[in-house]
Amino acid sequence: MGREFATVGVVGLGTMGAGIVEVFARNGIAVMAVEVSEAARQRGEENLRGSVDRAVRKGKLSAEERDALLGRVTFAVGLPALHAVDLVIEAVPEQLGLKQRLFGELDKVCRADAILATNTSSLSVTEISVATGRPDRVIGMHFFNPAPVMKLVEVVRTVVTAEDVVTDIEALCARLGKVDVTIGDRAGFIANALLFGYLNQAVSLLEAKYASREDLDAAMKLGCGLPMGPLALMDLIGLDTAYEILDTMYRRGGRDRRHAPVPLIKQMVTAGLLGRKSGRGFYTYEKPGSPVVVPDTAAPDVESEARAIAKVGVVGSGTMATGIIEVFARAGFEVVSVTRGAEQSGRTCEALKTSLNKAVVRAKLDEAGRDAALGRVTWSATIEHLADVDLVIEAVVEELSVKKALFASLDEICKPGVVLATTTSSLPVIELAVATERPADVIGLHFFNPAPAMGLVEVVRTIRTADATVATATAVVRAVAKHPVVCADRSGFIVNALLFPYLNDAVKMVEASYSTADDIDNAMKLGCGYPMGPFELLDVIGLDVALAIQRELYLELREPGFAPAPLLEHLVTAGYLGRKVARGFRDYSKR
Ligand SMILES: NC(=O)c1ccc[n+]([C@@H]2O[C@H](COP(=O)([O-])OP(=O)(O)OC[C@H]3O[C@@H](n4cnc5c(N)ncnc54)[C@H](O)[C@@H]3O)[C@@H](O)[C@H]2O)c1
Repeated sequence: MGREFATVGVVGLGTMGAGIVEVFARNGIAVMAVEVSEAARQRGEENLRGSVDRAVRKGKLSAEERDALLGRVTFAVGLPALHAVDLVIEAVPEQLGLKQRLFGELDKVCRADAILATNTSSLSVTEISVATGRPDRVIGMHFFNPAPVMKLVEVVRTVVTAEDVVTDIEALCARLGKVDVTIGDRAGFIANALLFGYLNQAVSLLEAKYASREDLDAAMKLGCGLPMGPLALMDLIGLDTAYEILDTMYRRGGRDRRHAPVPLIKQMVTAGLLGRKSGRGFYTYEKPGSPVVVPDTAAPDVESEARAIAKVGVVGSGTMATGIIEVFARAGFEVVSVTRGAEQSGRTCEALKTSLNKAVVRAKLDEAGRDAALGRVTWSATIEHLADVDLVIEAVVEELSVKKALFASLDEICKPGVVLATTTSSLPVIELAVATERPADVIGLHFFNPAPAMGLVEVVRTIRTADATVATATAVVRAVAKHPVVCADRSGFIVNALLFPYLNDAVKMVEASYSTADDIDNAMKLGCGYPMGPFELLDVIGLDVALAIQRELYLELREPGFAPAPLLEHLVTAGYLGRKVARGFRDYSKR
């Protein structure tokens, strides 16, 4: 028989503590909720009330359940109130000295057999445990934000944590309806070790004015299906907490520069812009603690100067070209498709018909709409047919010499004022711009595959692109019902630059035997709400593709932490490329 937890104590009722109180009280456990001062106690009580009242309004909790839940919680100031509890969970600010002092005091106040748990995100549980006379009864219980919603708990055992403590806490997690992963004591555990490098990198892109906050967030939501963008997530976590986590991870985790907090974070913390909890962080909120974003001076201006576009040329005959032709034809644009020959045109036309027919079968398009879309496309193998289009989108093979030659020809053929766009996912757009006499009109339009389904387009402006070209390109992306995000001309644009280093880090984590692909996939899905774990995603993308992108990022930015994981290289060499060959990180041949 495992241990019964009749009463638990929670210390610190901020962003995490209030949520943790709610988790226990919801599951029928009595909670002693403790703060450092009367004012903080009141704030904590309001945090909890606000959250359960929202749950009632959303119909997730009945009024009776709320009252019963609140009836299980006792609020107090000072640690002596914890003298009789079975378990304490600490959720005070992320500072080692503070936590060590607190654990020293808890050791004196609490029953000798009580378990002491810390919700630390990055500090050493071992160092916290030795501040007590019972390090074997100290453990990490790392909840995710918001605690009542996120299913994951990382259970962190140190080298001295007693086995019965680990099993009792695992059983408790199950009783709370949580999924646990039990891991050793390493900076950032699984999820934060993979998350914070990415968050810090996103802030550095904002600091460098590489893209706006809205565009960075929209890119990761729409391009990767994440529940929140990185900057909105920083606001939710709290910038002060995020700073401490990064700082600790930098110092404990091998001084990886990617964890050195970006200076902007410290400046914002100093200015009191802590995120949601203070009412302002990267975004401005209705009031402190509110999730409702209100407009502020950093909100984007409305577009001006966009040129009118009616006729669009698409060059190429591959997957992307076909998808882009479909997107524009369905949105009512006249499209001129140019391929290298009649045979390629025929194949592209067939592929377009197949895709349109699928849309009809799925009831996303009616037959008249399909026929009208097909009727808007003219097929040609002669580039001169692009003489009167308003926009050209190039989607030919990913080879610089081929694309440069094409842009030089477009420069001769197209009328003045035409926007010349490339869909390249890895080549510098400026190389193509300078292959023409009109670099101000050249831009990147990076569609995602499959183009008809994916809602995001990265609009890549070079140092020579004119404002009017950017305005025209973003307007046309909106006109085909996609979301444009504008970014500068750097390897990986936004999505790949932020996604692939994270995937590479996950591979390094398995390589270091810290955790398994299954646990890591679970941690990112259940702790951070990602639609797929990193290994599932790598197998879908293809390990060779991931390796090529990671190599490019590394070569352009020379960031040591971006060096491709040797394990990824070995798997590619062995031909384990992912789902397309039925074997990558997982074996699909027997499924
Ligand atoms: N914010 C997140 O997304 C997140 C997620 C998981 C874990 N964590 C971890 O949870 C812990 C708390 O972080 P947070 O974001 O909730 O911080 P927070 O700043 O929102 O809340 C901390 C609370 O602790 C109280 N406090 C300070 N000293 C105290 C003391 N001596 N006794 C009692 N209460 C005291 C403060 O009054 C405050 O209410 C940190 O270790 C953090 O790393 C945070």
